[in-house]
Amino acid sequence: MKIEFSPTRPAGLRLIAHIVDKGKHPDGLERTLAEGASEARFEGRAGQLFDSFVERDGSVVRIALAGAGERSSDKRQQGLERAGAALAAKFMSAGVETIGLDASGLSAEELVSVLLGLRLRSWRWDVHRTTMKEDQKVHLKTVTVFNAAEGGTSAWENGAALAAGIEFTRELVSEPANVIYPESFVARVRERFEGMGAEITVLDEAAMHELGMGSLLGVGQGSRRESRLLAIRWNGGTPGDAPTAFVGKGVTFDTGGISIKAGPGMEDMKWDMGGGGAVAGAMLALVGRKAKANIVGVIGLVENMPDGDAIRPGDILTSMSGKTIEVLNTDAEGRLVLADALHWVQVTHKPARIVDFATLTGAMIVALGNEHAGLFSNDNTLAGQLTKAGEESGDALWRFPLSAAYDRLIDSPIADMKNIGGKGAGSITAAQFLQRFIMDKTPWAHCDIAGMVWADKPGQTWGKGATGYGVRLMDRFIADTVE
Ligand code: BES
Ligand code: ZN
Ligand code: ZN
Repeated sequence: MKIEFSPTRPAGLRLIAHIVDKGKHPDGLERTLAEGASEARFEGRAGQLFDSFVERDGSVVRIALAGAGERSSDKRQQGLERAGAALAAKFMSAGVETIGLDASGLSAEELVSVLLGLRLRSWRWDVHRTTMKEDQKVHLKTVTVFNAAEGGTSAWENGAALAAGIEFTRELVSEPANVIYPESFVARVRERFEGMGAEITVLDEAAMHELGMGSLLGVGQGSRRESRLLAIRWNGGTPGDAPTAFVGKGVTFDTGGISIKAGPGMEDMKWDMGGGGAVAGAMLALVGRKAKANIVGVIGLVENMPDGDAIRPGDILTSMSGKTIEVLNTDAEGRLVLADALHWVQVTHKPARIVDFATLTGAMIVALGNEHAGLFSNDNTLAGQLTKAGEESGDALWRFPLSAAYDRLIDSPIADMKNIGGKGAGSITAAQFLQRFIMDKTPWAHCDIAGMVWADKPGQTWGKGATGYGVRLMDRFIADTVE
């Protein structure tokens, strides 16, 4: 969908939208519209929508009122996004190609929120559908904004970069595993970042073997697809300043390996690269808006398959750090991938702080459902900054504990550690495992996003399917604490 700005109200618009704060009808509305809205109990609650037809300048036009909630609400931004999203949900497949958005009364910042909601909610991935009915297709092509506040157009440039990042994440997550596998993931990233000024490094299996990445390579060993390590580096900050590192789990399909998963729902494991997808999308957003920060995004890309070459329960792997791992369950593979990705980023980029994103444990969904991602950290300041960025961006986080007692649960009698703990605290023992690969007390945080990557029903600014969780969190975190 395209967003255009027009200095005056364009002629010939068939649908015009107004954003309405709770309890405040815009001035100058036709009587039928104003009375119709209150008759229909439209009060401007966030996400509420009313539409009707009126006669203007001799022709019939459709007017939509989209509610943004209380003006003074601390959830103002979300309210405005929901107003935009409500317009998209209602009109994306309604046969309308253009919505005229009357931005009177909105500040530049408020307008950006409305447009973001519109754009995110109207995103769909229909490339694999060849037989869609007319009323299923997305017809909405353009939103033409008029009466925009001064600075609205340039403010939207940053909003558009963020939207593009979220959409890229959703695309990667939506694609099935026969389309997105380690090499094709890398190819899509290369294509998207072409000419943007980011530095892209890719390690193939031979290069990773050379570096001793036995942990990551062990996971990919049963797959016909070659594994990859992908790094996207952006130097937008002071030269020489240590970068912030984002690290993502990019398991392009997780069968469980020899510890194979049950059949029902296994298709969900196409989105086991959701952490890596979020890192790629966040990098696209940050590079797209030329963030004034040094950042590196690292993604460990593997496919976890059962095969004659696959690793077995009981096998011992040697990671790049030299630490050895007894693999007791080949389905606890994400941590094996991250172990080498985390070690590599520390020795190669010497980051000031590390935040990783992974669909790491089913236990995280048991604990938090689909409302918060789990946060684990060795640093209270970093944890606080991330929690705050989560609240502000809507990508919510909830912190869990780490301790020596939990750490002991992954000691192995035969190697330095085992890749699973006992019955309880599955998400925490997974985080303890990752922590063993963090050197010199570098501030580090792990976000277990297993419950956040995919939605079974439409949400505030997403339809069913990939949510793009994590992109806004990283973007906001960089803006608040690094820039
Ligand atoms: N990718 C899964 C975790 C997952 C499960 C994410 C469901 C999203 C939805 C991960 O690799 C995994 O299989 N973890 C195991 C760990 C266990 C073997 C210790 C799990 O959670 O069951
Ligand atoms: Zn697994
Ligand atoms: Zn997995």
